[in-house]
This record gives sequence, structure tokens and C-alpha cells, in this order.
Amino acid sequence: MRVLVTPDYQTLSQTAAELVARAMRAKPGLVLGLPTGSTPLGMYGNLVRMHRDLHLDFSRAQTFNLDEYVGLAPDHPTSYHAYMRRHFFDHVNIAVENIHMPNGTLGIDVDAETKSYEQAIEDAGGIDLLIVGIGANGHIAFNEPGSSFASRTRVVNLEPETIANARQHFSSEAGVPRTAITVGIRTILDARRIVLLASGALKADAVERASRGPVSEAMPASALQLHPNVIAILDEAARRF
Ligand code: F6R
Repeated sequence: MRVLVTPDYQTLSQTAAELVARAMRAKPGLVLGLPTGSTPLGMYGNLVRMHRDLHLDFSRAQTFNLDEYVGLAPDHPTSYHAYMRRHFFDHVNIAVENIHMPNGTLGIDVDAETKSYEQAIEDAGGIDLLIVGIGANGHIAFNEPGSSFASRTRVVNLEPETIANARQHFSSEAGVPRTAITVGIRTILDARRIVLLASGALKADAVERASRGPVSEAMPASALQLHPNVIAILDEAARRF
């Protein structure tokens, strides 16, 4: 895993957006894997600006989000669907039919949903460039510690720590999701190129273990060491080595 340390979150965000923009220009039909959370917000902001000011063209790009909470319909304000519309999709010229996100609506056939999600990735020709954040516990997408490296898209139980982090975005305790649909570790490793983004001191320990520690299912992000084309873009605070 190559590691690029940038001085601050702003530079991290700009660097990540430029990397995506370069890949988009090289292949207009790029297939992207996309995360949510606080870390990629700056990257999305920069991509929106590049679309507006530099005509960065998303019209042929396809996107696959990495995860979604179970129990939240796509129009729920704290769903990842809503996050993506608010921070990215509504501000660029991406074609609605090229946007793919797991559907976590209660009552849907989750088995069919997870299978068709994997199938859609395959039909798109696989993910060219996958951007991923990291949890302080080492999760990537919602593959919590203990997830099999052979895992694919499925429903998972979130760790108490992950639920606690999500709580701030929900108005009632009862509404806080405890399960999610996530792409698997194998799905992530199948991407041709992976960019890991990490910002802040709270991530430093996980980043160090992911990039230099033993490769183990106890530390999901360590699976990235098995991939030949990964770059971790950090800010100074997220670096411990
Ligand atoms: C979100 C996701 C999660 C986050 C991780 C870090 O789609 O897959 O794995 O990337 O929890 O979240 P932030 O960026 O909020 O620290």
C-alpha cells in the first residue's frame, strides 16, 4: 500500500478529487465505488466545484455506493441515498440510471437485493476506482472486525461503536439503525484501484494497523495489503509512522 501524507484535510480532499478527476478524464465511462461519512465530504465538494468550473464530465460515469443502512428508505433524510444526493449527485451531471446504491428499505427482499447489487457491478465491468474510508475500529465500508475476506454484498450487524457514531445524525434512539447492507471485502478487493482516505488522530491507530500490521480478519482494512494498487491518502493527523 502506498501512503501519501498531506498537510491537512483540505489538501487531502483536493488530492483525492484530482485523482478521481484524472481517472475520469482518462476513462469517461469510469465505474466508481463511493463512500459516505465525514471524510469524503471535502472530496465531493471539490468534485462538484471541478464540474461547475472546469466542466468535469460525469455523464458517462457509473457509481456504486459501498453501503446503506437497513430500515431507511432512499428518501429518508439520514439515509446514505440522501447524503449522496445532497453532497454530490444533485450537483453534477451524473445520469440517474448510472447511480447504484444498496436499497435498505424495510421489507424488501434483501437476498435478491444483495445478489442483484453484485450482479450490477459485474454487468458494469467491475469497479475501476473505489474510494473507501476507515472506521476507528478498522472497518471498511461496513465490514466490521471479523468479516471474512471472501465476503460479498450482504446484510451485517453494526458494531456498538459504529452505532454510537451514527447516533448523532438521528433524532430518536429508536430510529438509529443497527444493521446495514454493505459490499464485502472481496467486492472491495475486486476493484482495479483503491483509494483509502483517512483524516484525524482518531484514525491514526487504525491506519497504521491497516497498512503495516498483520493481515487479519480482525482488522478488515488490513485486507487492502493484499491488493496490488492501493493508495492511502492521509492528513498529517492520521499518520502515526
Ligand atoms: C461509509 C462507510 C464507512 C466510513 C467509515 C468512516 O460509507 O463505508 O466505512 O467510511 O465509518 O467514517 P467517517 O468518514 O465518518 O469517519
